[in-house]
Amino acid sequence: MTALTAEQPTSARSNATTPLVSLRNIHKHFGSLHALRGASVEVYPGEVVALVGDNGAGKSTLVKVMAGVHAADSGDYLFEGEPVQVRKPTDASNLGIQTVYQDLSLCSNLDAVQNLFLGRELKGAWWSGGRIRRAESEVRARELLTRMRLGNLSLTRPVGAMSGGQRQNIAIARSILWTPKVVILDEPTAALSHSAAEGVATLIRTLADQGLGIVVVSHDIHHFVVNSTDRIEVMRLGTNVASFKSRDVSGEQVVNAMVGGNEGVNLAG
Ligand SMILES: Nc1ncnc2c1ncn2[C@@H]1O[C@H](COP(=O)(O)OP(=O)(O)OP(=O)(O)O)[C@@H](O)[C@H]1O
Ligand SMILES: [Mg+2]
Repeated sequence: MTALTAEQPTSARSNATTPLVSLRNIHKHFGSLHALRGASVEVYPGEVVALVGDNGAGKSTLVKVMAGVHAADSGDYLFEGEPVQVRKPTDASNLGIQTVYQDLSLCSNLDAVQNLFLGRELKGAWWSGGRIRRAESEVRARELLTRMRLGNLSLTRPVGAMSGGQRQNIAIARSILWTPKVVILDEPTAALSHSAAEGVATLIRTLADQGLGIVVVSHDIHHFVVNSTDRIEVMRLGTNVASFKSRDVSGEQVVNAMVGGNEGVNLAG
């Protein structure tokens, strides 16, 4: 008998000493509005980091700085430990940072395969008419979805006829086709039923277990954030006010930190 694996691998997180992405002391103004006032966030391979805070705290602005949608006024942006310039979305995607926005940017009249390959269709050579290689696209889509444990999603139904959870999963799968290292999700469980949200949480964990770093903005504190993430960064008025290991904290403690009270808590170690 051959031993295939001598031991169970430990989590990717525990082996990594350098964050995939690290944003430190980020400032961002919109005109006279000082939206980010020294905000920071980092994510390691295999880690799911939740960014929480009240409306207007600066969560979306911070992840948009990470995604290159907004250029920071000042602060440090490190990728795998090296300072980088990320001033437009292609800078971030070239580094392997993909974002799934709340509107999901899916075309509801198209099916899963068409949505997955939207804008980067697999095509035959120009001299053969440049037709979309549908069969190959379906095989690639099926492989991807199986790897993401979404093998039972329909490839041929228009995504407009799918449930919110299924659409969210397809939007996440679409980002994974680019083989990213980091995926940013803004409110992935908003407007989903409890079971659909659990399905999305399972998918996020599957991706983290494959070594991706996940940054997720969420208001779903009591379910998704405390149960399905590794670390929680609490933002208020454009800066970080508390940091928790998800397994050590209750939803109530997180909400207290969001609204104020326990200043400067750091239980994340
Ligand atoms: N493009 C923009 N132009 C001007 N002001 C903006 C812009 N984007 C965000 N802001 C402002 O920056 C502040 C932070 O907004 P942001 O969207 O980052 O908050 P948030 O934490 O994501 O809130 P929510 O939970 O409501 O999504 C708010 O005062 C908001 O009005
Ligand atoms: Mg937001």
